[in-house]
Amino acid sequence: MNKNSLAALRLAARHFTCDLDITREELAALLELTAQVKATPGRYADALRGRYVSLLFEKPSLRTRLTFELAIKQLGGDALLSAGPIGGREPIKDVARNLDRWTQGIVARTFSHKTVHELARWSRLPVTNALSDLYHPCQALADIFTIQEHFGVLRGLKLAYVGDGNNVAHSLMLTAARMGVHFAAATPPSFGPHPEVVTQARDLAAHSGAAVTITHSPAEAVTEARAVYTDVWTSMGHEAEAERRRQAFREYQVNEALFALAAPDAVFMHCLPAKRDEEVTEAVIESDRSVVFDQAENRLHTQKALLLMLLD
Ligand code: CP
Ligand code: NVA
Repeated sequence: MNKNSLAALRLAARHFTCDLDITREELAALLELTAQVKATPGRYADALRGRYVSLLFEKPSLRTRLTFELAIKQLGGDALLSAGPIGGREPIKDVARNLDRWTQGIVARTFSHKTVHELARWSRLPVTNALSDLYHPCQALADIFTIQEHFGVLRGLKLAYVGDGNNVAHSLMLTAARMGVHFAAATPPSFGPHPEVVTQARDLAAHSGAAVTITHSPAEAVTEARAVYTDVWTSMGHEAEAERRRQAFREYQVNEALFALAAPDAVFMHCLPAKRDEEVTEAVIESDRSVVFDQAENRLHTQKALLLMLLD
């Protein structure tokens, strides 16, 4: 693929603040580009030469921060990190307009999704959401790529999500529904996904032929699933509720008994970091059906494809 054809892949939405910013066609192109980038890592070594990307991280990160830094550097660009509150010392709109004058892109991990929106509203640069309280769209790119890589297809597969109806669940639900993957979530009664996101996912599913099911029964969600996904019970920013959540989520652990209800060739997925013996047991996460490190590796490749589509 040459530079001109990469230009044709540019995202119409300009920003990647949530999963709805990428169309089905763009997502299919991104998955194809990811496969190329992964197979021939040197091919785009100069694509971002002379370009700088601002990484703004309000919350801790291992995978997202390092894979963005590595992706930018392997594409020939450079990354500048600012860790700490965004907009504490000055309005977010001023932060956005400062970065505009120095760098060519913004990647932001924020507590509130409104911060990502405000950056996108005021910046002329492409803004990428590296996790907010509502969405984790870069994670979902790697997850859907990992499923496609493992099974060779997406449409018609069943993906089960067990646990908190959080940012990771939202992005996974939207991306799965967009690509025709049946999505079944099991969450405790007061920890379901945001109803508006469920509506958005069902709208996408109506076009792709997928089903989006929300239940309180882990067994129902997991039965015959080809992939079983979970995430921490207490996300960053909710630490004060950790004990209440441990009680509420007790029946929502992915253990060997629950995983046995999935299809015989099912894989276990987790965005990481994982809390063993809370949302998943050591036996499941360490089993040979766990693809958690494939997901982590694919963060790098999918984000390279995303950067090429947003910045090149
Ligand atoms: N999965 C993920 O986003 O990991 P980090 O919080 O380490 O970036
Ligand atoms: N839901 C988790 C994901 C971490 C990658 C959190 O927001 O803390």
